[in-house]
Order: sequence, then structure tokens, then C-alpha cells
Amino acid sequence: MRLSLKLSAAAILASGAVAVAKPVAYQLPPETAKLRPGPGVETAQNNCTACHSVDYIAMQPPKKGKAFWEAEVSKMVKTYKAEIHDDDARAIVDYLAATY
Ligand code: HEC
Repeated sequence: MRLSLKLSAAAILASGAVAVAKPVAYQLPPETAKLRPGPGVETAQNNCTACHSVDYIAMQPPKKGKAFWEAEVSKMVKTYKAEIHDDDARAIVDYLAATY
């Protein structure tokens, strides 16, 4: 009696192991942790990732244009006190307007 119980437990474990070993295929979400490549990406990377992730930039509606990004960068500087030099801010605005 004891022996047969042990055997069936082992059989259940074995069948479970087979099910777990089946390959699982799944799709990774697109990479959002990095800024898209383009002229000025290093400047943006150095100045725009200190406080929040790149997702804040990536989740904005596409093709908003230069005025939108000028307003965003100036908000980061004036409201949130990001320390970004004027030259860098201009380069970042150009980069964002061209790339996002
Ligand atoms: C000093 C910290 C800091 C830096 C540096 C910074 N941000 Fe932000 N950013 C914030 C804060 C705080 C928020 C608002 C977070 C919230 O509302 O949850 C924000 C939000 C955003 C948003 C979301 C939309 C919005 O207006 O709230 C975007 C886009 C954004 N930042 C872009 C940038 C870009 C581009 C740069 C580089 C020029 C930058 N951030 C650098 C602090 C910073």
C-alpha cells in the first residue's frame, strides 16, 4: 500500500515536470528604456534621464514638433529645476523634434 502511494506520487511529479519543460514562446515588448538614435542623442541621454525614465519622452504623441519640445524642455528647467545649459537645451529640442 505504502509503496503504491509513493509510486503514484512520483508519476504525478514526473508528468508535471514534462509539462513544465515545454518551451514557452513569448514576445518581448519593444525597447523603451533607451532614446532613439539620432544627432544629439548623447546630450539628451546626459540631461534627460537623471530624474525619470526615457518612457516619459517615448510616450508623448509622435511628431509634436519643435514648439512642443521647446515647451517640454523649458518646463523641465523652469518647473523641475533641471540643470541644462542653453546650448544643450537647444540641441535636445532639435533632437527631440527630429526624432520623436
Ligand atoms: C530635474 C529633474 C528632471 C530632469 C533632469 C528632466 N525631467 Fe522631465 N520630468 C520631471 C518631472 C518631475 C516630471 C513630471 C513627473 C510627473 O508628473 O509624474 C517630468 C515629466 C516629463 C515629461 C512628461 C510630460 C510632462 O510634461 O509632464 C516629459 C516628456 C519629460 N519630462 C521630458 C524631459 C526631457 C526631454 C528632459 C531633458 C531635457 C527631462 N525631462 C529632464 C523632471 C525632470
